[in-house]
Amino acid sequence: MTVEKKDIDWGSLGFGYMKTDYSYEAHWKDGEWDEGGLTTDHTLHVSECGGIFHYCQEVFEGLKAYTAEDGSIVCFRPDMNAERMYNSAQRLEMPPFPKDKFVEAVKQVVSANAAWVPPFGSGATLYVRPFMIGSGDVIGVAPAPEYTFRILVTPVGPYFKGGLKPVKLRVSEYDRAAPHGTGNIKAGLNYAMSLKPTMEAHREGYAENLYLDSESRTYVEETGGANVLFVKEDGTLVVPQSHTDSILPSITRRSLVQVAQDLGMTVDQRPVEWAVVKAGTFVECGLCGTAAVISPVGEIDNKVYGADETVTFPAGYTEIGPVMKKLRETLTGIQSGAVEDKHNWVYTV
Ligand code: PLP
Ligand code: COI
Repeated sequence: MTVEKKDIDWGSLGFGYMKTDYSYEAHWKDGEWDEGGLTTDHTLHVSECGGIFHYCQEVFEGLKAYTAEDGSIVCFRPDMNAERMYNSAQRLEMPPFPKDKFVEAVKQVVSANAAWVPPFGSGATLYVRPFMIGSGDVIGVAPAPEYTFRILVTPVGPYFKGGLKPVKLRVSEYDRAAPHGTGNIKAGLNYAMSLKPTMEAHREGYAENLYLDSESRTYVEETGGANVLFVKEDGTLVVPQSHTDSILPSITRRSLVQVAQDLGMTVDQRPVEWAVVKAGTFVECGLCGTAAVISPVGEIDNKVYGADETVTFPAGYTEIGPVMKKLRETLTGIQSGAVEDKHNWVYTV
């Protein structure tokens, strides 16, 4: 069934929130999740003693729904978000939301908000934000006795202002994640501590911070909201890995590794030293994630501890480089139905 889309100037949307028609909510109590369902109430009603407010029991996800070329509405790999949220919840002693129920809930809430899924070719998408909080009362440091799972959806445009214009990063003097800490899960607490470094970076004219591993400050990890990719002169895609398990396992990154291999590219997944980046080894750099898709990086500056280093990526300095462009086009092509979905990543809603 085709629904009439909302009257919105889709092309001018930024990455912001607007209320749509429905959200989804479910509750956990006495060892089980209730049936859950759609709600038109966009406010949560939570006790002042809810675990979220005191000990930050919150995990979340981010995925997108698209209108494909044929008019159908699709989501990209929601099963992977279900799996990651399951792992995130376990790490914070929260009851994991069943994975099949997660996928069903995503489909249900996207379908109910079909009029808000931006039209094909508009450049916008429907951002889907599942999250879970400890909502039961807790005063001693302990897991909350009750939980609320929610999904909100909102139409969005590009995450970085300027869309596909290469951005500038700076190496951060702050750390993002402790070795073997919570960097590999998607929990709000990881983002609270990134707000100050992010605002400082913005004030200095940078789009984001590049975090190094906090143990040795030797290896490149990721940015506040996206994984990092590099391209060598010979076309090899180099994907930083963490030896301390502190990089978020990006679904976009894992998909791009497969896409690159399918395109016949060589992919090298390994720890990447900042010194190697600094030496000018790479001709392109990009940030990847659901929100960022692939956003090209033109320059990274490092002014930490008296350093004065500037690294530029010659093939992607003024506009997106050829490898990032190819990967981006292939990925978005799979998402919109223009490129064959060999791995069954696209779920019709
Ligand atoms: N890294 C961080 C810290 C993120 O917040 C995100 C966004 O979800 C990503 C990477 C990209 O992950 P994904 O591709 O699964 O959206
Ligand atoms: C996403 O890419 O979905 C995220 O959650 C990143 C966030 C910083 C917007």
